[in-house]
Amino acid sequence: MSAKLKIKNSKLKTSPRRAAPKRSEGAWRKEVERVLITEEQIARRIRILAREIERDFRGRETVVVSLLNGTVMFLADLIRHLNLPLRLDFMGVSSYGAGTESGELVFTKELRLDVRGRDVLLVDDILDTGRTMSRVLPKIRALQPRRVKICVLLDKPSRRVEKVTADYVGFEIPDLFVVGYGLDFAERYRNLPFVGVLHPHVYKEACKQICQK
Ligand code: PRP
Repeated sequence: MSAKLKIKNSKLKTSPRRAAPKRSEGAWRKEVERVLITEEQIARRIRILAREIERDFRGRETVVVSLLNGTVMFLADLIRHLNLPLRLDFMGVSSYGAGTESGELVFTKELRLDVRGRDVLLVDDILDTGRTMSRVLPKIRALQPRRVKICVLLDKPSRRVEKVTADYVGFEIPDLFVVGYGLDFAERYRNLPFVGVLHPHVYKEACKQICQK
């Protein structure tokens, strides 16, 4: 996406009270300009990632910690390919604040499982600026796990502002506004089975509406 817009991918939240604009069924799919990563490419890559993770976590007490909400599809597909005796927990973290990059990070759900002395696989859909991970990591490390490894479906290294790297990366992508396969824009498009590039007119229009307020 355009850096000038200062709207972070998937950070624009809509007001639940605002009526949805009238549009024909299926029009929302046309707001996706093109498919960046197909369902088949995702499925193939996940099988390879799962083999790597299995090798590294075999014989360990593993807790998979997934960050809500964007990970839903990736997580479900990844763990069904992990032939490991793992435990699963979720951490709720989201950024709010008028859709800008400086949006405050809010923890909406804490871990329930004890990760002390265990190996944690921290799963997220996208590593973008790294701000989320740089807040989540110390929180998890304070719980004294044996080690924490990060697994993300998408990595956008060109956008990084915090020094964070992932141990397992599905796809490294350029600075495009991507949606689908769990990733949203204003909470929509998460259910697309592929990763697509959002048409600029969609987020430019949304930006205009926000910037006028
Ligand atoms: C998205 C995404 C990552 C984070 C990455 O979360 O799921 O957690 O942004 O961005 P960063 O590296 O710049 O911090 P978001 O807060 O939009 O919540 P969501 O998962 O519910 O979409």
